[in-house]
Amino acid sequence: MLAAWLKNHFDAVWRSVFFASAFPGAYLAYLFQTEDLGSNPLATLMQNTGRSSLVLLSITLLVTPLRRWLSNLSKLTHRRYGKRLADWNWLIKLRRQLGLWCFFYALLHAGVYVNFDMALDWQQGLRDAREKPYIVAGLAGLLMLVPLAVTSTQRMIRQLGRNWRRLHSLTYAVAIAGLLHFWWMMKPGLWTPWPDTLVLLILLGYRVLLRTGILARWDGFDGQESSDRAALLQQTRETTEGKTS
Ligand code: HEM
Repeated sequence: MLAAWLKNHFDAVWRSVFFASAFPGAYLAYLFQTEDLGSNPLATLMQNTGRSSLVLLSITLLVTPLRRWLSNLSKLTHRRYGKRLADWNWLIKLRRQLGLWCFFYALLHAGVYVNFDMALDWQQGLRDAREKPYIVAGLAGLLMLVPLAVTSTQRMIRQLGRNWRRLHSLTYAVAIAGLLHFWWMMKPGLWTPWPDTLVLLILLGYRVLLRTGILARWDGFDGQESSDRAALLQQTRETTEGKTS
């Protein structure tokens, strides 16, 4: 019954995700205001905003597999509700919010860099990009996030048709750019990015299995029912109808 309960309390779930995602930024703003960012405030800001963006990217990418896993689990446990992928369409709407938060933290991260590290000196920025390839990888990730954020509205989803899905495959390129960015900045012998890498590689591998149709053969969900774009449009329609009725 959890599936039905969550669907019926979508507004509360949406708000919880909103506040949880806003928390790292709000906490950093508080520490900044109280001058309590530790001995290296710039590093604290850069590391926390960068990490928040990457973690939110992973959670965004988790939504598609999670929807299938939950449907399969409901089938296995013979639940009355939750067996169809469509029963979990509301998760797709949460994904939009999560993706936008990922973009927000990436922007904040780049803003901190430009304002405090580069001190708005664009010559210095160019020198940094030449000397530190991880800056270029980060910039590539940020630039790829822009069209994804811009086209996340319902109007753009409708307008772009099938191309919306193609465009949004860029999310995987953002993940790769983010990982390259993270690994490249590591000093030799440091393995900090391993957990993020493992999670993202599993999610990327999952997407490959999904695209090649291997998963559909295994769990019986055909491509049509699992179309994220259709699900997102349907979910938005349902929410609008719910609000107007
Ligand atoms: C213009 C774009 C970007 C610039 C200039 C930039 C720059 C930086 C810099 C200077 C650092 C700190 C390096 C250090 O500690 O010495 C950093 C860390 C990091 N950045 Fe970026 N970055 C950008 C985009 C991104 C994006 C799009 C993501 C995620 C998708 C990201 C994720 C991270 C992560 C995970 C860290 C390391 C955090 C940690 O140490 O725990 N960055 N970035």
